[in-house]
Amino acid sequence: MSKKSVDGTVVFNEYFTSVYGDRWTGIHDALLKDDKKVARRNLFFRQEQAQASAEEGIGAPHEFLPHCFEINESFDLGLFDTPMLPYYRMDPASIIAAQSLAVQPGDAVLDMCAAPGGKSLVLLESLTAAQEGECLDLSGRFVANEMSAKRKFRMMSVFKRYLPKEVRSIVKIRGVDGSIIGLNKKQDFDRILLDAPCSGERGVVHKKSELQTWKVKRTKSFGIRQYSLLSSAFMALKPGGRIVYSTCSISPHENDEVIRKLIKRKKNEIDILELDPIGPSEKTEFGQQFLPDRDGWGPIYYSVIQKGE
Ligand SMILES: C[S@@+](CC[C@H](N)C(=O)[O-])C[C@H]1O[C@@H](n2cnc3c(N)ncnc32)[C@H](O)[C@@H]1O
Repeated sequence: MSKKSVDGTVVFNEYFTSVYGDRWTGIHDALLKDDKKVARRNLFFRQEQAQASAEEGIGAPHEFLPHCFEINESFDLGLFDTPMLPYYRMDPASIIAAQSLAVQPGDAVLDMCAAPGGKSLVLLESLTAAQEGECLDLSGRFVANEMSAKRKFRMMSVFKRYLPKEVRSIVKIRGVDGSIIGLNKKQDFDRILLDAPCSGERGVVHKKSELQTWKVKRTKSFGIRQYSLLSSAFMALKPGGRIVYSTCSISPHENDEVIRKLIKRKKNEIDILELDPIGPSEKTEFGQQFLPDRDGWGPIYYSVIQKGE
């Protein structure tokens, strides 16, 4: 068989079998199903205006995630006619990854690849100490950067639907390539979320054309782009600051291997924080990973990087 005619589907399955062994079939099947989402209460919205209601498709409070509720198929944000939306729909694993940045009031925060903006909302709640519809602290600053103009506009409309005016006043929207931010904004941020563009295998398994042309080279080249974003984030971080690097890829080239490269280049300047598993997450060499065959969460990988003082 000539090299050209090799079906990418076979290469894809062989590659992920080499990574996950017998578990791959279960992960593959779980990727084909809908991902699990919860409704998270918008903490900028006064609670009495947002009682969880069965009619709106909102079920029981989540077992251990504060402010989160189970949802059923009838959950539809379009049903709410309030000027600000009382809930947002998110994968629980994304909430946990964003919270691991441990943003504090007063911090200077960068969300380097921010659209459509779900994780920004989680970070902004911590930054402003939001609760019960009030934000107690507006002393921090927040930069939401997104290179795609179309996605940036979508993010701006998300911010309009979820954030009160005073919170939007501390948010700066940028539309630049994240990999140059570090050159222009050296040691400028206390906290940086790098939720990097990635292979997104949940999408790949649903698209025949992408599967048929899939190559290991593709995930390796994402790893190269991700490392350039991560080194930029590292430059933009203040000493003592923290980065959360995350992806929705299940490929080690885009996850632990990107962190390994940073460790190799900056070994005396960084600590990779040890994290306790939360819910169905599993420890990897440098972070945590949610794989969908466990509870339908994710996939999400995240690693928490601390810069030395
Ligand atoms: C995984 S998504 C981010 C999801 C977002 N954090 C959220 O929770 O809604 C990655 C985003 O990075 C953007 N992106 C891709 N390359 C970029 C770059 N070089 N600089 C900045 N943003 C980039 C993509 O357009 C995409 O919107």
